[in-house]
Amino acid sequence: MSVSAAAETPNDAEARDHRYTSVAIVLHWVIALAILGMIGLGWYMGDLPNDNPAKEGLYQLHKSIGITILLLTIARILWRVMNPPPEDAEGLTGWEKRLSHWVHVGFYVLMLAMPLSGWLLVSISYDFKIPTVLYGTVSWPDLPFVSWLANDIGHVVVENIHSKLAYVAFALLALHVAGAVKHEIGGEEGVLKRMLPGLFGKTAGPRAPSRGALTAFGSALALFAVVAAIPALAQGGGPKADLTAGGEATDLNWELDENAENTLAFSGLYESATYDGTFGDWNARIAFYPDDLEASHVTVYVDLSSAIASKKLYTDSLKGAEWLDSGNVHTAVVELGNFQPAEADVEWGTPYIADAALTLKGTTVTTPFQFQLEIEGDTARMEGTTTLSRSALDVGMQSDPGADWIADEVTVSVNLTATRIAD
Ligand code: HEM
Ligand code: HEM
Repeated sequence: MSVSAAAETPNDAEARDHRYTSVAIVLHWVIALAILGMIGLGWYMGDLPNDNPAKEGLYQLHKSIGITILLLTIARILWRVMNPPPEDAEGLTGWEKRLSHWVHVGFYVLMLAMPLSGWLLVSISYDFKIPTVLYGTVSWPDLPFVSWLANDIGHVVVENIHSKLAYVAFALLALHVAGAVKHEIGGEEGVLKRMLPGLFGKTAGPRAPSRGALTAFGSALALFAVVAAIPALAQGGGPKADLTAGGEATDLNWELDENAENTLAFSGLYESATYDGTFGDWNARIAFYPDDLEASHVTVYVDLSSAIASKKLYTDSLKGAEWLDSGNVHTAVVELGNFQPAEADVEWGTPYIADAALTLKGTTVTTPFQFQLEIEGDTARMEGTTTLSRSALDVGMQSDPGADWIADEVTVSVNLTATRIAD
């Protein structure tokens, strides 16, 4: 017999049987604190003005903690099924027992309904559509089959449910705390210490034995993994962009140097801070003759799904239909022509200007493209930039048509090294 077991009195053993398991206690307090914190956060973030730079991050944090609460609640319910709570505390009258049970049931419904209604709310937003990225890392999909609610009425109803549940939480909490305190003070046995860690009072250890941790937490984790895999599978499943199109041109005389760091980048202003990103997959088919600019032409193919922005949240946003729609439209094409020498001060190479006709989601917009080029033997180095208009290209026009948050101008820059194609 171990020392601690030898030191145990019959009272201690009995007290343990009237207590919740340690896992149930930890889950109770973690979820209780998280819910109260989330209500505060929900109210606080909603009151912030739109131009507050912290707002975007707080909404994402709210969604991240909310989904965590949902998963912990699922684990908690499974745990409870496998580890039933202790018998009702002694000294409770019949109606007190019934009320306390219904408050508990109400809380379980609330712990599911609050995060689910929040998830539903973001899934049916239809004007300013912001994706959910948990803790800045995991893309979380919208709920399926709910697009029929994506309208003014659906939104108002779900938003009301989500926000009014906070008052339901407070009503339940008032009854819950009143019950716990009343029976701690008045009851012979008391209920509070059943839900307090063993640090308090005479009740030393947890109620043993507990079981099913793997099933409870494993199931919640498995559910998380399956849902989190959906965006990755949806993105990877479609056909890839064809970056080798235009094979019929026979006058190409340069090709991208695959060993060089060729970059195609974009940047702009969002709430007066800079956002930026790059396209990882693109190709250029180049026919460029400094002595015959008229015969020169360049076509650039860009795989839109390869856009990576400085924040995962923006990367996910770009995939949306109103932005790059990269799940449906795979390639953007830029045709460069009408090359002319330019008047510009450059630190190296020769300045040029050309017309860049960008075709994106079926819309073509032509803008001037300025670049500088240096040819040394069989190697050419080029750096250029152009400014595009989001509105002209119909990008992000649902969320921010007036460019109130995201500037209309987007700067695209190219930096490449090419090698001469041998005759
Ligand atoms: C237990 C979990 C949650 C609690 C306690 C909670 C609580 C709240 C509260 C009190 C508000 C403020 C409502 C108001 O303005 O009166 C709010 C807003 C909001 N919540 Fe939650 N929430 C939870 C989970 C979630 C989840 C999981 C999501 C999304 C995935 C979410 C998305 C939102 C959004 C988008 C708003 C802003 C609504 C608006 O201003 O239109 N919430 N939440
Ligand atoms: C939003 C916050 C809270 C939520 C959602 C919540 C939820 C719950 C639930 C669902 C149970 C039943 C556990 C079960 O039988 O499976 C429970 C039990 C309990 N809670 Fe809370 N609780 C919250 C806050 C509090 C607070 C602030 C106290 C402290 C006064 C407290 C004290 C207790 C006690 C003592 C029990 C055990 C009751 C008994 O043995 O009959 N809870 N709570």
